[in-house]
Amino acid sequence: MCTAIVGWPGMGTHKHLPPPSLEELGLQSFGMPGERLSGERLLKPKKFRFQLLSDFIATTFDTSMRVLDVGGGKGLLTYLLRQQGYAACVVEPEFQILPGKYKDLRTNRRVKIPKDETVPRISANFAVQHAKDFDLLIGLHAHGSNLKMLEAAARYGKPCVLMPCCVIGEPTTPTPGESWFKWLVMKAEEAGLGVEYFYLNFKGQNVGFIAR
Ligand SMILES: C[S@@+](CC[C@H](N)C(=O)[O-])C[C@H]1O[C@@H](n2cnc3c(N)ncnc32)[C@H](O)[C@@H]1O
Repeated sequence: MCTAIVGWPGMGTHKHLPPPSLEELGLQSFGMPGERLSGERLLKPKKFRFQLLSDFIATTFDTSMRVLDVGGGKGLLTYLLRQQGYAACVVEPEFQILPGKYKDLRTNRRVKIPKDETVPRISANFAVQHAKDFDLLIGLHAHGSNLKMLEAAARYGKPCVLMPCCVIGEPTTPTPGESWFKWLVMKAEEAGLGVEYFYLNFKGQNVGFIAR
């Protein structure tokens, strides 16, 4: 998993400014500062990001949409989206097999994924042209592909859901001291896209945006 530490030529390493707070993005906070959260409001471990994102997608986008999960890794997000009814597909250069199980957050039970189960995969680096055959692009920690996804969203008029963790591997990077998250938002706006923020209930970098 990437960190937000990047090198500046001649200046050693630099930690980009953290993403803006929920309040700064106009999102309602999980609780009051110092409040002990419990039950549904308790922040979940980051490993549950796939379940939380697939539920968010299902409440936000029509299930008739063909979804491209950019940098989808093992393919769990795509698997869960397919369970929700989406025609979802991973584009990913490294072949990785689906995990054997995942936790269903509604029932709190482990669900086994059959050994021979697979998800559709495009075994390649994401290219802007891939967007032509899909209705929705998703980048969950898809570092290195965020700018290309925004370009694809703008070129083909396809909504793009970005839940970035950093801007490592992107063809350009923010200026030193700039917030990498705000920089990505600015890139979306420069491409003529409108931006809506959202967050998911997991620990760590849990804010994202829809660009369309
Ligand atoms: C940090 S991992 C995130 C994986 C998964 N989405 C997750 O949240 O666990 C980034 C993934 O992007 C893939 N990747 C790297 N370069 C890529 C590219 N040019 N196009 C598509 N995927 C790429 C990597 O192989 C890796 O699986």
